[in-house]
Parts: sequence; C-alpha cells; structure tokens
Amino acid sequence: MANGLGYSKPVNIAIDGPAGAGKSTLSKMLAARLGYIYADTGALYRAIGLFALRNGIDPSDADGVSALLCKTVIEIKFKDGSQHVYQSGEDVNALIRSPEVSMAASQVSAIPKVRAFLLGLQKDLAAKNNVVMDGRDIGTVVLPDAKIKIFLTASPEDRARRRYDEMIARGDTADYNKVLDDIKKRDAADSGRETAPLKPAEDSILVDTSGFELDKSLELLISIVKEHLT
Ligand code: DC
Repeated sequence: MANGLGYSKPVNIAIDGPAGAGKSTLSKMLAARLGYIYADTGALYRAIGLFALRNGIDPSDADGVSALLCKTVIEIKFKDGSQHVYQSGEDVNALIRSPEVSMAASQVSAIPKVRAFLLGLQKDLAAKNNVVMDGRDIGTVVLPDAKIKIFLTASPEDRARRRYDEMIARGDTADYNKVLDDIKKRDAADSGRETAPLKPAEDSILVDTSGFELDKSLELLISIVKEHLT
C-alpha cells in the first residue's frame, strides 16, 4: 500500500505506557495530525472485562473467562474516524469506561487466552492501515516491527490527577485518592503479570510527560515522529 511517505507497508506507531499517562488522548491527536487510524487496544480488554461481569464471571477467574471467549465476537469499527468496539454485535463504547470495568479489564488482561484471543485482531488492523496503536504490549508483542515505539509515562500523581479531571469533566463523581489508589493497583497488576507485562520495548523512546500540558506533550511526540519518519 502506498502511504505517501515512500513506505511500501503501512506505517505503525506503537504507544505503550501505564494507565493515565495520556496515551489515548495523545495517540488520538497524533493520529489525527498524521491522517492515521487511532487504535485503542485497552478498549478490547475492557469489552472482555464487561462481558465477564455481565455473565457473572469473576474477571480474575482464568478458566471461567477463557471458557466465555468462544461465546462472543469482539470487533473494531471506525465511525467518522473514531473507534467503536463491538461485543457480539453490540456497540459497547459507552459502557466500558467505569472504574469497575477498568479493574475487570486489568484482571482479564492477565489471562494468556484473552491476550491470544485479541492478538490477531490487533495485528490485522496494523497490517492494513497506517495506525497509531496504544496499549501495554504493542511495541513488545503486538507490533514488534513497528516503525516507531514510544513508551509514554508520568508520575502516578500526575496520572491520577488527569484521570480525575477526565471523570469530573464527563460528569462522573470521583475521589482523587481513590483514583490514585486504583492507578497504583493497576500499575502493579499490569507490570507484574507473567504474560506480556507492561514494560518498555528495548528499542522504544521513553517520553515522561510529568508536569507537561497536553500541547507540550503532543509537540514532543510530533517532533519524535518527524525525526523518525523522514
Ligand atoms: O488503556 P486502558 O486503561 O483502557 O486499558 C485497560 C486495561 O487493559 C489495562 O489495565 C491493561 C489492559 N491492557 C493490556 O493489558 N494490554 C493492552 N495492549 C491494552 C490494555
């Protein structure tokens, strides 16, 4: 596929990092600037976390969740450039951002069969499209040959503050200390799991956005991308 940059294959940009580092906001903005698709892989784990909760299965029960996988189909579709995740044909985008589903997503994501179940879908998307894909294992497992790999991080307090502000802006109620506590718990779970733990790929570029406004982080990412794509 020609992509206007002289590359014969689609260009893949992998953005990994812990919860609340600004990955989704920044990846979405970066993709828009580049004219690429933005793929949020966390939404896939969230859809499976939601499916487990709906079926009364403990999201940390590996056998129970694995047995559920053959009972659903998870799909990604793009509407006006924005990603929608479908679970068994239902658009679940509006249902997957609650704290319960966040925790369930983190739990199901530690299950090897869940990761294997979602791998093909993610690889396929990147094989067909210029994409900015964000997640935890994109540079290490999903797209080890990505053209650019960025590991985006920030202090837990900065990340909790951003998550808290997002929740308040959405009209949700939130308690900063609870958000911070959840972030620390998810960090420990995502980094400590055996399968595809959160860690920077050896060839990734580390970007720490602690104390940065969004615009400054975006400009930094754009300058990294420009440097590596030319
Ligand atoms: O990015 P997020 O917060 O929406 O992700 C939800 C959970 O899914 C997160 O706790 C870890 C997991 N996840 C993962 O294990 N691998 C990915 N590529 C993306 C998310």
